[in-house]
Amino acid sequence: MLLDKTDRAILDGEEGETRQEMMEILVTLAKISDAKELTPVKSVQISGASYKTIGEWGLDWLSGLDAKATVPAVLNPVGMDRERWKEMGINREFAENQNRVIKAYERLGIQMECTCAPYYLKMPGYANNLAWSESSAVCYANSVIGARTNREGGPSALAAAIIGKTPLSGLHETENRFPVLNIEVDNVPEEIKDTSWFGALGYIAGKAAGNKIPIFTGFELKGQRQSCLIDEQLKSLGAAMAATGATALYHMQDVTPETKMFKMETEGLKTVNIDGSEVATLFSDTAPDAVALGCPHCSTGEIEMLVSLLEGKTVQIPLFIFAGRTLISRNADAVRRIEATGARVFADTCMVVSPALDKFGTIMVNSGKAYSYVPNMCGAKAVISTTKNCIDAACSKR
Ligand code: F3S
Repeated sequence: MLLDKTDRAILDGEEGETRQEMMEILVTLAKISDAKELTPVKSVQISGASYKTIGEWGLDWLSGLDAKATVPAVLNPVGMDRERWKEMGINREFAENQNRVIKAYERLGIQMECTCAPYYLKMPGYANNLAWSESSAVCYANSVIGARTNREGGPSALAAAIIGKTPLSGLHETENRFPVLNIEVDNVPEEIKDTSWFGALGYIAGKAAGNKIPIFTGFELKGQRQSCLIDEQLKSLGAAMAATGATALYHMQDVTPETKMFKMETEGLKTVNIDGSEVATLFSDTAPDAVALGCPHCSTGEIEMLVSLLEGKTVQIPLFIFAGRTLISRNADAVRRIEATGARVFADTCMVVSPALDKFGTIMVNSGKAYSYVPNMCGAKAVISTTKNCIDAACSKR
């Protein structure tokens, strides 16, 4: 494998033990994935940031490291809103442990933005190489933006942040980005504006795709561009596919960027048919104990939609909304209007990685990914419904 002079010196320990350990991680991964070299990355997103998921073992490892990130790097959501954790019902012991994790990352030069939607901070460019680890962010970067990242683990993303490079293999290489499965969606209802429908579709499609790269054919999204949040629909679709399958990249004919750059033949590909008229059968109107929205973290468009859905209403059961801290501050007025209804918009965290939602019996979500993860991660029953039904459920009197 080709390492330049600097990389070789790092591997030989000339720049300290931590940089050597990080380079060893990258070189090992490069060997496993047959990479010929390391390539520079524009940005890094690191999972394994919630004390709920990494615990004491992960914290010990982080605390022993001594180096600084050399490229812009952010964290995945942590276990609580860093400022409003008491309001979330987080206990002091958890908060103290979570703060130790945050400080350990801060010491390594990681920016204190904890979000699974880092593309709302700074949108990567087409074909930029990245090292992101949150599966929904990976899927969005590859599919919706046409940037390039493998599904990094927490340690390999941290190694990329410190070294500034990642192995040039897998989805960093054009030839590995073509579809191998055709997902044909038939009988698509005319009204498919809500992101929840795409989350439900992704929940089904991810199971069918597994770890294969699919191309969606059979439905037309272009005409909706004026009337709905198309990027958010794609975000919701990919997040759910990454959860129920291992999707890191999907294409949608004539919608996602690479289908316009490259000729993507579907002839000869194995075809899976999904009946679009059945997607909404996943939806339920079971009365929940809490409602949680913002998986993946909300965009400005989604915040604005929630403002209009909540207009004139009062929330009757806990309604949690999750978004990145910077996005919340960019939309401070809209967030104030949402919170005036009794809903809470929390930063830095989410319904899955925070212990705050573990106490509820049934949680209603509008996300295929959250629908898939909430039962295992929160020990709660999950129901999925449209965003409007979620708001109605949160606001209806018992
Ligand atoms: Fe993000 Fe948490 Fe969903 S990390 S994608 S909001 S499970």
